[in-house]
Amino acid sequence: MASVLLLFAHPAFHKSRVNKILIESVGGLDNVTIHDLYEEYPDFNIDAAREQELLESHDILIMQFPFFWYAPPALLKEWEDIVLEHGWAYGSTGKALEGKKLFCTISTGGSSQVYSKGAKRFTIRQLLAPIEKLSQLCHMDFLPPFTVHGTHLLKEEDIREHAERYRRFVFALSSEKLDCSKLEKLDTIDENADKLILKAL
Ligand SMILES: Cc1cc2nc3c(=O)[nH]c(=O)nc-3n(C[C@H](O)[C@H](O)[C@H](O)COP(=O)(O)O)c2cc1C
Repeated sequence: MASVLLLFAHPAFHKSRVNKILIESVGGLDNVTIHDLYEEYPDFNIDAAREQELLESHDILIMQFPFFWYAPPALLKEWEDIVLEHGWAYGSTGKALEGKKLFCTISTGGSSQVYSKGAKRFTIRQLLAPIEKLSQLCHMDFLPPFTVHGTHLLKEEDIREHAERYRRFVFALSSEKLDCSKLEKLDTIDENADKLILKAL
């Protein structure tokens, strides 16, 4: 089974309703390491060598965060700037991340309608273009984002349903029970992603 490093970035986790439950759900899987960046680095003083070691020892990277101004919270951007070094992550000798999978798990206050295709609108996948592009530069396989929309209107039972869907998805991905060729073409890992799970779990 593939190992999963979940990089979690939430500046106000004590107030979280959605990410808290999502994290509890996947944190129960044996092969998932939860790495809470705001807990580890409250002063933004990121240890690049330690982060690189963690990345090297896992096969799949998840970046999980609430959408803040259509982007990841600031510490995740700082993490990218410090950890993804030339000669290690990219460049002619930078192959440390080659072949690893990367996807984002994102909660949004905006509804799915806000992030659907249309005039003056952008999908979450479009808004994630910098992360998709960095994954190309670092020779990683980028997968569409797992999304939970309309967070302010969700009841606890709705959040628990999303969390169960998330757990199923991460388990299926890490046990190679997902049809990744179809998955890559999706804009987002929504409720339809369950149809791509190849075998009963
Ligand atoms: C500073 C700030 C910026 C935000 N920006 C966005 C945004 O750009 N788009 C959006 O859909 N929601 C936005 N939100 C709503 C958060 O994404 C939402 O509260 C969060 O995903 C809920 O997850 P949680 O319960 O784990 O905190 C923003 C919230 C804050 C506090």
